[in-house]
Amino acid sequence: MNATQEQLKLKFEQALVAAFGADYAGVDPILVAASNPRFGDYQANVALSLSKKLGKQPRAIAAAIVDKLDVSEICESPEIAGPGFINLKLKTEYLEAQLQAIQTDSRLGIPTTKTPQREIVDFSSPNIAKEMHVGHLRSTIIGDSIARILEFQGHDVLRLNHVGDWGTQFGMLITYLREVSPEALTTANALDIGDLVSFYRQAKLRFDADEVFQETARQEVVRLQTGAEDTLHAWKLLCEQSRREFQIIYDLLDVQITERGESFYNPLLPSVVEDLDASGLLVENQGAKCVFLEGFTNREGEPLPLIVQKSDGGYNYATTDLASLRYRIQQDEAKRIIYVTDAGQSNHFAQFFQVARKAGWIPDDVELVHVPFGLVLGEDGKKFKTRSGDTVRLRDLLDEAIVRSRIDLEKRLQEEQRQETPEFINEVAEVVGISAVKYADLSQNRTSNYIFSYDKMLDLKGNTAPYMLYAYARIQGISRKGGINFDELADNAKVVLEHETELALAKYLMQMDEIISTVEQDLLPNRLCEYLYELSKKFNQFYDRNQGVQVLNAEEPQRTSRLVLCDLTAKTLKLGLSLLGIQVLERM
Ligand code: ARG
Repeated sequence: MNATQEQLKLKFEQALVAAFGADYAGVDPILVAASNPRFGDYQANVALSLSKKLGKQPRAIAAAIVDKLDVSEICESPEIAGPGFINLKLKTEYLEAQLQAIQTDSRLGIPTTKTPQREIVDFSSPNIAKEMHVGHLRSTIIGDSIARILEFQGHDVLRLNHVGDWGTQFGMLITYLREVSPEALTTANALDIGDLVSFYRQAKLRFDADEVFQETARQEVVRLQTGAEDTLHAWKLLCEQSRREFQIIYDLLDVQITERGESFYNPLLPSVVEDLDASGLLVENQGAKCVFLEGFTNREGEPLPLIVQKSDGGYNYATTDLASLRYRIQQDEAKRIIYVTDAGQSNHFAQFFQVARKAGWIPDDVELVHVPFGLVLGEDGKKFKTRSGDTVRLRDLLDEAIVRSRIDLEKRLQEEQRQETPEFINEVAEVVGISAVKYADLSQNRTSNYIFSYDKMLDLKGNTAPYMLYAYARIQGISRKGGINFDELADNAKVVLEHETELALAKYLMQMDEIISTVEQDLLPNRLCEYLYELSKKFNQFYDRNQGVQVLNAEEPQRTSRLVLCDLTAKTLKLGLSLLGIQVLERM
């Protein structure tokens, strides 16, 4: 609900009380956007909903409400239509004043939330010594955008990287490391074993082929768990090398995140099992300790257990998530915990959420949300792979996007016969390439699979990053062409809305706050993308009327007013894109 709707709601409340008495104070006016702009901007359906209670015809109720309704500062006189809808049309003067007010506000008039709270976004979370794959890329992009939106709304956001930095695979990796580069373990230098992913693969080959190796690896696991110094040292070296590689990706994507990996919760794991036992939930099943789940059954229809301690005494992914959940509630005091992972992990989240609830660990004011997303597919509709069938390294994927965006740019510069410096070309190619990857991901409803296509995401037309960036740069071009500094447009620049394209743009600009609070709730950044795309189309309709002549060459006060509309559109695009983690370009 935006500021205008909130004001209207208040007015309705007063009218309802005046018409039918104090009992009607809390009644929802059921204010919705008008289904057809011909009827106005908003429509209140409350009269229909009260018909039964009041025992009157909805039209009569609507008339009684309208009689007491004072919205003259905001709307034209309300009209009653159909069975009893109350139609409201915003006054032009009202819109003009609103636009004028937000023009100099860095938040564009969007208020921060009335209920700021601590929120955790658990995202990215790749696994040490394994590759960071496209699934982690989606998590990183979506999680970052969600975190940005929550931060903008004024929440206290903790961005957590729950990296997989613990587990039996380290026994194998450390054993292999001792074999192939023993010297690495005795020097204080950072590890440099090249590509960690192929290191992992080789270690696995070695592990699978040799029983003695397997036994040594098992002993290494025990040494790691009991904290043997040299083993811990080797573990740290491996983590550091991975961390450096992840950081390259985070830097490229401009993503901030705090690492708090699985190993952090090690000391808390035994108490998870003890406390589940104390609350009577723990059951021993074939040597493993587990909790039986409701609503999850195996093929035979028998209830499924969630294992929290394996028969060999080891803990697992779920145990760690239970421990981290408690820590986040008790120590971090989080009120909403958001997990961004692929939809394939949905059961995992539903299961440990259920166990934590049963154990009474989730206070009523804490919300747990799994934010699932679909797969990244190649253009053939199959799993995204390189031509040779290998998984795509993220580094390569992002570099490729930049290379292709540079090729597009150079072609365009040639066509337009423009000369630009290498610095300009580098910057534009990088910003456009990275933005294209981010926007392609964010503009899809995250719950569906999406097809990764460089051609589509780099297209200057359509709902793409280049289109959005171009819309922004185009507006900056107007200011350059007219020698106008938008920031210096007089503070009290008057807005006059005359043409229908101006009114449509103005009304749309005022809807940004509603979109942001919707995304704050449903965590679907694609809604913001749709809004920005629609906004730039509305801008083009306004600007392209007579090829923009009506802006720079218009008479005053229209000229300044229209420039304010340009400026506000650019500022809204910039703000919206920044919430998607996308940087704008003044020129491109
Ligand atoms: N490391 C996991 C993976 O790569 C993702 C972790 C997500 N966060 C969590 N708290 N389970 O699939």
